[in-house]
Amino acid sequence: MIISEHIDVIRETVREWKQEGLKVGFVPTMGNLHQGHLTLVKEAFKHADRVVVSIFVNPMQFNNASDLDNYPRTLTDDCSALDKVETDLVFCPTPAIMYPKGLDAQSQVSVPGVADVLEGAMRPGHFTGVATVVTMLFNIVQPDVACFGEKDFQQLAVIRAFTKDLCLPINIIGVPTVREDDGLAMSSRNGYLTSEQRQIAPLLAQVMKGIETAVRAGEKNYSELIEHASQQLDEQGFKTDSIDICDANTLAPANSDTTEHVVLMAAFLGKARLIDNIVVNLQ
Ligand code: PAJ
Repeated sequence: MIISEHIDVIRETVREWKQEGLKVGFVPTMGNLHQGHLTLVKEAFKHADRVVVSIFVNPMQFNNASDLDNYPRTLTDDCSALDKVETDLVFCPTPAIMYPKGLDAQSQVSVPGVADVLEGAMRPGHFTGVATVVTMLFNIVQPDVACFGEKDFQQLAVIRAFTKDLCLPINIIGVPTVREDDGLAMSSRNGYLTSEQRQIAPLLAQVMKGIETAVRAGEKNYSELIEHASQQLDEQGFKTDSIDICDANTLAPANSDTTEHVVLMAAFLGKARLIDNIVVNLQ
């Protein structure tokens, strides 16, 4: 496995593979890797001969400095985990390599519509940061396919949108959320939970499943469902941040004509802001 922070090394290695006619898969990450990330790597190998993983805690997508500073950085462990799943190339640049002029002087990719609602409305600039860095990484790696988790449902929608809008010749593959045995969606942020909070954490997925069951049974009073779910979470020690029931294709609020729903949950548990989602297709 080659590990490099240099753009030239990545370009040269990928160029050689392409000359040999090999297909290149790509998995962008911010590191602190868990089984969810490694599942994306395995998925990438189903579509490609060589797989590149990037590890870059992207300052442009963070809304506050302490969240950025506290984000776990575990490069040595990450590289040994990636080696075990036979990753070919790891790109781990510094902020100075990615943004030599600084963030304020950096050109940006903004995605109107899908990036402005929900999480995008709560975290101004977040999805511009994601779209910008992913576009840069795509241009550095030039993959044929790239894998992203459905866990970050809106992020995946944003990436699909700009890839299409900007005519990027990359096949975007969504990978189902990988969960712990008790249903908790795997996340780097789960490491912030105390052992007591970790016991409570699976409730987020259970409450979400409760909404799924109600929507499948034909319940259309979404605001009541959301209110009830938020109460259930808050009673057990969560601080619900947002619960939305949307059209899975447009991310507009679901209405009585919606057939493909997505239930999006975000709740604080202590220091950790946990997110989860489920698609509920009535067709
Ligand atoms: P990060 O949070 O490290 O996630 C990297 C990829 O792993 C994303 O596509 C995310 O959706 C996926 N992922 C995380 N947890 C998962 C789980 N439990 N099951 C399946 N996939 C999971 O998302 C980012 O980094 C950044 O925003 C990035 C796209 C790298 C841009 O900086």
